[in-house]
Amino acid sequence: MDKLNVKKIKADFPILNQNINDEQIVYLDNAATSQMPIFVEEKIRNFTEMNRANVHRGVHTLGVRATALYEKSRQKVADFIGANSDKEVIFTSGCTDSLNLIAASFGEENISAGDEIVVSIMEHHSNLLPWQQLAKRKGAQLKFIEITKNGHLDLEDLETKISSKTKIVALTHVSNVLGTINPVKKVIKLAHEKGAVVVIDGAQAIGHFLVNVNDLDADFYAFSGHKMFAPTGIGVLYGKKQLLDKMPPYRLGGEMIANVTRKGASWAEIPQKFEAGTPNISGAIGLAVAIDYLNSLDLKLIQKHETELTAYALEKLSKISGLTLYGPKENRNRTGVLSFNLKDIHPHDLATALDLDGIEVRAGHHCAQPLMESLQTESTVRTSLSIYNSKDDIDKLVSSLQEVKEFFSEFR
Ligand code: ALA
Repeated sequence: MDKLNVKKIKADFPILNQNINDEQIVYLDNAATSQMPIFVEEKIRNFTEMNRANVHRGVHTLGVRATALYEKSRQKVADFIGANSDKEVIFTSGCTDSLNLIAASFGEENISAGDEIVVSIMEHHSNLLPWQQLAKRKGAQLKFIEITKNGHLDLEDLETKISSKTKIVALTHVSNVLGTINPVKKVIKLAHEKGAVVVIDGAQAIGHFLVNVNDLDADFYAFSGHKMFAPTGIGVLYGKKQLLDKMPPYRLGGEMIANVTRKGASWAEIPQKFEAGTPNISGAIGLAVAIDYLNSLDLKLIQKHETELTAYALEKLSKISGLTLYGPKENRNRTGVLSFNLKDIHPHDLATALDLDGIEVRAGHHCAQPLMESLQTESTVRTSLSIYNSKDDIDKLVSSLQEVKEFFSEFR
């Protein structure tokens, strides 16, 4: 097979077999969350019905089984992203939690007055606010890399922003608004030459194409499970062992200690040092199933499918007069995240109208207000593609957009 079998894939997602407002659902909000294949739910149910217990605590059979399943999931994540060791994989509640962890632990220890932190203007608030507030606390300076007119990272600007004063570069792998794929490997190399540590927000990349943290030489790589067919509430922070080893814990409590006395405490080794309290065990198990699912489909085919579909969508959308597309117009170094506005129709009105046709899209500022300001808009409509989308879905979107445009023009 050199092509995804979309019809077969769709059947793995029961939620896609329903009508919304009497129309067959077209789910185009995958950048907010993807849907979950039935296998993930089944495996979690099996855990609940047969193996549920806490991890790393009990010596009883269920405790041993639960721990084995949880740690097997960690190994699966490590293999999936090309980490050197499963110890470099920390389970968190999501990408936001992972990024906050780095800022609160690594950032708090390593940033001082006068240091510089570099982010891009296209960051999601999750990869902006932890750095903005850290910089404020420490008297450090936050610098923004701008984007070109075509929605790519401005590499000339980047070279002027990253200097020997830069301690941290925090960059998204893929923009959640523009779909731009940033040249993170190149940026990491440049940042390392200046002695900076690089944090990559991989939320919109993982599950859409192969990511190998070792090949990228990323210091930290954060992502969520729910955007890659796993449950909500589970995420990953990958970090290089030598960095994680030196970092202080982020949260304190059970299971993250080596020893506690009346006077003090010492910390467990990684990854436990960063996993205080009972983790999201079923979420981690679900994430491992989602990875099996992605592997069974083959990420190269997934990327090919989504790239072809993006080309089709770009072509069709560009033919709608009055539609302003933000981000790369050509189908290069971008994913299937497409943001646009249609004439002067408010994005929320447009999204509501599309919903009446069963088409689910997101509208708003997409948690990227500085980017909106740079694009000189307050909000956009965003469609985002996944493995179960087809050209039919794009056709329905386009015809619905045309109808909505005509409907609104009658009242002007
Ligand atoms: N970060 C997710 C999005 O961009 C929620 O929609």
